Amino acid sequence: MTTKKLHHALLFALFVAAPVTASDDRPWMDTALTPDARAALLVAAMTQDEKFQMIRSRFAIGEKKPAEALTAAGYVAPIPRLGIPSQGLVDAGLGVTNPGGAREGDHATAMPSGPATASTWSREVAFQGGETMGREAWRQGFNVLLAGSVNLQRDPRNGRNFEYAGEDPLLAGTLVGDSIRGVQSQHVLSTMKHYALNDMETHRNFHSAQIGDRAMHESDLLAFRIALEIGAPGSVMCSYNRINGVYGCEHDELLNNVLKRDWQYPGYVMSDWGGVHSASKAALAGLDQQSAGEVFDKAVYFDRPLRMAVDAGVVPQARLDDMAHRILRSLIAVGAFEHPPQRRPPDAELDAAGFAVAQRTAEEGAVLLRNAGDLLPLGTEVRRIAVIGGHADRGVIAGGGSSMVGWTSRGPNAVPGVKPTTWPGPVMFQPSSPLQALREAAPQARIDYVDGTDRAAAARLALEADVAIVFATQWSAESVDLPDMRLPDGQDALVEAVAAANPRTAVVLQTNGPVELPWAERVPAILQAWYPGIRGGEAIARLLTGAANPSGRLPVTWPVDVSQLPRPHVPGLGFNPPQKPEDTIDYDIEGANVGYRWFAAKGLTPRYAFGHGLSYTRFALSDLTVHADGERLTARFEVRNTGARAGAAVPQLYVHLPEGHATPLRLAGWDKLELQPGESRQVEVALAPRLFADYDPRTRGWRIPAGRYRIALGQSATDTVDTATLELPGRTLD
Ligand code: BGC
Repeated sequence: MTTKKLHHALLFALFVAAPVTASDDRPWMDTALTPDARAALLVAAMTQDEKFQMIRSRFAIGEKKPAEALTAAGYVAPIPRLGIPSQGLVDAGLGVTNPGGAREGDHATAMPSGPATASTWSREVAFQGGETMGREAWRQGFNVLLAGSVNLQRDPRNGRNFEYAGEDPLLAGTLVGDSIRGVQSQHVLSTMKHYALNDMETHRNFHSAQIGDRAMHESDLLAFRIALEIGAPGSVMCSYNRINGVYGCEHDELLNNVLKRDWQYPGYVMSDWGGVHSASKAALAGLDQQSAGEVFDKAVYFDRPLRMAVDAGVVPQARLDDMAHRILRSLIAVGAFEHPPQRRPPDAELDAAGFAVAQRTAEEGAVLLRNAGDLLPLGTEVRRIAVIGGHADRGVIAGGGSSMVGWTSRGPNAVPGVKPTTWPGPVMFQPSSPLQALREAAPQARIDYVDGTDRAAAARLALEADVAIVFATQWSAESVDLPDMRLPDGQDALVEAVAAANPRTAVVLQTNGPVELPWAERVPAILQAWYPGIRGGEAIARLLTGAANPSGRLPVTWPVDVSQLPRPHVPGLGFNPPQKPEDTIDYDIEGANVGYRWFAAKGLTPRYAFGHGLSYTRFALSDLTVHADGERLTARFEVRNTGARAGAAVPQLYVHLPEGHATPLRLAGWDKLELQPGESRQVEVALAPRLFADYDPRTRGWRIPAGRYRIALGQSATDTVDTATLELPGRTLD
């Protein structure tokens, strides 16, 4: 080890790794006190400079990286005098990224994309994903994970949908909340982001999301609130965009009034990287920590400009103290003082455990959209399989931008060089080959591969095979939206050519989200694998061969094409758009009727409904009864596996609001249960009262109007098998 390296190692051990214990001169280390009491003692002991040190992080990539910081999105130096640990901020919600490239000691699991986790409809799977990422962040020396992405999917063209959890506030809020809980169970603080309405990437640093108060609270804000109640994230990241004309990071109403006052949020607000435009305005509006301002903002507003504002009394000292307090209490609350992260060498057993969680998520998250004539699963009678396209011989595609896990213990990008190779690229393929996995899963079959660039060759191979499987991919990335809903690079024509040659064709999709499927009726089987992560190849092979029974259900509505969207034409989408983007996005067109609610309100029939997903077995739902026991609302019913295989059912409950309500229906509860062939079970599901209620901007509260509520039980938003009615008196909720 060189002297310099030794010096860094010593500094690191001294400042980061040593937990500090309580003593008379450090009463804030007393773990019997509440995080708030401890933070208050600390703030009282801090100098003004130390407080200012807390409220800005520095970019820890590139030439301005503080020497002692690990390469990552952000760093705040420790204050050894007081035993305050450093803050190491690392991306993101799909695994711990390695922004500096592979380093000794990196051991990230590249998790499947957000919609894949959401498609599991499993709180346990979401928690395990978070737990895995939290553990891996901690073992790489980080204590803040920039995870918890819960922006609602309002448009399938949003380039970042792959980081989010679909279109429904209850489903997205619940699962992201559980994932945050998982992260924080490992003494790693999680964010929840991007607050709020950062639902498109185009012009994201400028555009204003226009939306009425009530609609905002009943959609995007509801998702954030549910995630917050379940996950208690230490920090909330305010977004780049403006909301009704005001920047997310200086939005007094959203930060001070809604988040901190109405929702009683005790944690801190950190800015997105480049999201700060002022000092006193932002601080007074509720921003607590500026992120990497020296690189991304016009000024380090939370240094000199804010010092001047505090000195001049424009920003009260109490506000500065509150900023420091919030940051410290959140670090204390997750145990960051007592359990400082330790950079540990890779551990094969833990790596395997992380990969197993990724595989479980991919298997439970893949959605079997179509399976005409039960083409799938592939039985042992299948002797020749043609695998075509999607680089299936080498890996599975991933999304681009700050959330991309660029290196795992399985090595780097499996398909380097695919354009764009620079931000928001590179286009990443996780090294997990579906072809190889399929060869292992179906040893009786001869499996040949062509890359699909030559359609005629692909069709010839398909013709000779018992079954053809086309792997179709769509790359998507942060900072740019998709220009349309089409598969790129002539892949539709490839599918058509293969299906024409062999009617026994299956398509495996790896996409950001819904895409047009002009060939859907000519292809018997379609499996949506999303971006399936580091064990995606294995998961896909197990699903195709029936070793795993598909149980994913869509967390989004699958439109036929853009004409069904609230905004069919949005100017400025994609790379090098022909038209300039607009400064505003009118979300009041659909308001709170996002996704399936929009389709129901407009009487539109999607390609596949929200909640849809097939299995290799069948389920029957029956005998629905609904009950109001004081404030507790429940549904009871029976679920039976009527097929010949074990599988997981996902019964869903939708509340139809009384006649005349602008929102037709809302998901109010669900369950997921494994059933053996022939097995039936009685199920009780709690229905979320807030989904019966309306938000009243005048009272800033929720109210269930008295009336008759029809509860529908089904296996998707449109497939209702049983209904029951609840007569409810009017009442208010928090
Ligand atoms: C993204 C955030 C990310 C941050 C740090 C921003 O561009 O919007 O999601 O956490 O960068 O990398």
